[in-house]
Amino acid sequence: MNAKLPGGTLRLSDTLTLTRVGFGALQLAGPMAHGPPRDRDEALAVLRDVADAGITHLDTSDYYGPHLVNGLIREALHPYRDGPGGRPRPRSRQRGLREEAHTMSTPSPVHRTLVLSGSLRHASVTTLIARTALAQAGPGHEVTLAARLDGLPLFNEDLDTDRPPPQVAALRAQVGGVDSLFVLTPVYNAGISAALKNAIDWLSRPRDHCELAAKPVAGLVVGYHSQGAEHQLNTILRATGATPLTVPLPMLGLRTIDQRDITGDPRVHRTVRDTLDVLRRAPAHAPG
Ligand SMILES: Cc1cc2nc3c(=O)[nH]c(=O)nc-3n(C[C@H](O)[C@H](O)[C@H](O)COP(=O)(O)O)c2cc1C
Repeated sequence: MNAKLPGGTLRLSDTLTLTRVGFGALQLAGPMAHGPPRDRDEALAVLRDVADAGITHLDTSDYYGPHLVNGLIREALHPYRDGPGGRPRPRSRQRGLREEAHTMSTPSPVHRTLVLSGSLRHASVTTLIARTALAQAGPGHEVTLAARLDGLPLFNEDLDTDRPPPQVAALRAQVGGVDSLFVLTPVYNAGISAALKNAIDWLSRPRDHCELAAKPVAGLVVGYHSQGAEHQLNTILRATGATPLTVPLPMLGLRTIDQRDITGDPRVHRTVRDTLDVLRRAPAHAPG
């Protein structure tokens, strides 16, 4: 900790002393705290400069991005350490309260889940079910729906450089900033949708720093005969290093799959609620 910083340090508890000079991470996101930074490498460099300056107090929130800025902090600074040469311990500020940011290695009191829908169809049943998850989250569970997956380019290793396409960087940072994923897909020819597979392929890289590694991921497959796709999804997730959760995913048993069936079927709501419950209780992911 750098004692030369103006104001010195502030001892908050026996185990927590922070520099009075802090860094406000809001400015790392795009305009109005939304979207990825204009220059991702520059944002990471700024964070490392903050640590090098001895500042151990970051003011951040999962609203920045949303979910993006905390992922950047983790990428730039994890593992966090106290003491000389230590890296800042991020704190998040929400509704006026300070609480541990999810980027810390201790479990966060708020569990964050990102939901991905593998259907691109406007009137998609899969996306409708994904949306019900937002309303079903219990206290202390923050559930966010990811942007449509057709914003991602088709996976191409040539594009997967230190500067991946911005949509890919944004999704990776978003995944890095949550505790678990809930992925939903329609069944297409006994498999998962190409859009979801494409997203998972992007998220599976870089190999040595894959945001899916050890992350709990629940999958829900929407179709008339879903077992083949469920098996495929679990196999793919395991290959990435993610932890697929064995959630009871009942065949919905619907004669037709349309929006009225879904909104009117209590089994759908129960399945989503149970899935969120399992994710909420999943062992905390230890980043890095
Ligand atoms: C190209 C195509 C292939 C499909 N193959 C299967 C299949 O193998 N098994 C199945 O149960 N349903 C299959 N379906 C039905 C879809 O899984 C079903 O319509 C799904 O609910 C659509 O999801 P969405 O409303 O979210 O777009 C297929 C649909 C399409 C368009």
